[in-house]
Amino acid sequence: MNEDEKLEKYTSVKLAQESTDNRGSASSEEYLSKESTTVRPNNQLSKSLLGWYSVCSSQVLKEGELYHFSMYNEPLILYRDKENTAKCIKDMCPHRGASFQGGELKEGEIVCPYHGARFSTSGECTNLDRITCQHIVDTNYNNYAKKIHLYQYPCIEIDNYIFIYYTGKAKTNLEEFEIKSSLEDLRIETYNFKQNEYTFEEVNVDFKCDWARIIENHLDILHIFWVHGNTIPDKDVSRNVITSFNQIITRDKNYIESKYNHKDKSKGEFISIMFVPPGRIIIYKGNPDTARYVQVLDHIPLGQNRARVVVRHYRKFLKNKIFTSLVLFKHLQQRIFYRVFCEDYQILKTQTFNQQMGYIEKDNVKLLGEDKMVQYYWDWLQSELVNSNPWSIHSTTSHTNTVHLDMPMLYPPENRKLLEENNRQILLKLILRALLPISLIILLI
Ligand code: FES
Ligand SMILES: [Fe+2]
Repeated sequence: MNEDEKLEKYTSVKLAQESTDNRGSASSEEYLSKESTTVRPNNQLSKSLLGWYSVCSSQVLKEGELYHFSMYNEPLILYRDKENTAKCIKDMCPHRGASFQGGELKEGEIVCPYHGARFSTSGECTNLDRITCQHIVDTNYNNYAKKIHLYQYPCIEIDNYIFIYYTGKAKTNLEEFEIKSSLEDLRIETYNFKQNEYTFEEVNVDFKCDWARIIENHLDILHIFWVHGNTIPDKDVSRNVITSFNQIITRDKNYIESKYNHKDKSKGEFISIMFVPPGRIIIYKGNPDTARYVQVLDHIPLGQNRARVVVRHYRKFLKNKIFTSLVLFKHLQQRIFYRVFCEDYQILKTQTFNQQMGYIEKDNVKLLGEDKMVQYYWDWLQSELVNSNPWSIHSTTSHTNTVHLDMPMLYPPENRKLLEENNRQILLKLILRALLPISLIILLI
């Protein structure tokens, strides 16, 4: 299947859903019941925690490199095959169960580090003679050979993101996946966002905390003023300014949206936050139709206490590459965002502990009017944790080897190296920019 065929297949679910919906409620219930065991009213999210996730940005997935990550504790790998097509496989060799950690890619084919089994782009072992002795397995050879096949998940690259269809059960044959939710529902263009009018930069962030706490943090407008008031360079966002807004919440089966309008009507819309399950948040600065700045945040549940966020900043201003490079726009923006995430991290890791200890139960926490978005998210999450229960599929125990947990997390704030490197780059470039005119003057003299 090429990329166009995949896109058609992975987005056609929506068409199926729409046409089924038109046939009346019985069929619609039948369709919905495939995705979740509960049929919810139209104004409530009907998406499952299992389904399409944007797991990495295209530029992070480099040709010739294995990208290790995990979903709900299950170790996975992304890589590009010889056609440069993104693939997602379970990090387990089907021969004797070794991990591909330390393995390699040869002409887009993954090679196991244990006995050298090499796998074609469709997942078959292409050098069976390396790992079998035909004379020993003889009559069973053909049967045995068929079983040596990579376990995979549907994977597609679109909008400069890598999406996977995560079910918790990787399969040898991709055709056997029953795609139950449409990829289209997760794409930003579905929400009238014209990607080609914007330019973007991005940062990736790793947190040692529960991924749902991060989503909740990004839906929470209140904390922005208090926690990030001194960091975000916006005069309207400050600890000392208490601004009140009119909030309009829209709930649909595919998203929750909250619009915050300044009470002072002449100021218009302040911010609009949209949650698209299971893990995407879109934040528009100002009115979504005219927003000059839009953030797209993808939350990836690596493990119970590990989460990754891909944060992409789209902007309509400062598009000139030479100018933005001269003013160190990318580095300075990264600096602000690393700081913002460090500020959040302090809170999120201890809040995760409180939640895991059972302290954050309904009666123990007080949700105010402004927390409505969080409340709606929680309602959906709690029911999905029961319905889909993704954490139970690859659950670990106190005896489970911690090899994957012990691996360093890639990005700040958990890994400070990138943050320090960014600061070093800023300093270095500032010195170079200061030295350039001085050396020109010296040359002229
Ligand atoms: S375990 Fe991978 S080749 Fe043997
Ligand atoms: Fe925050």
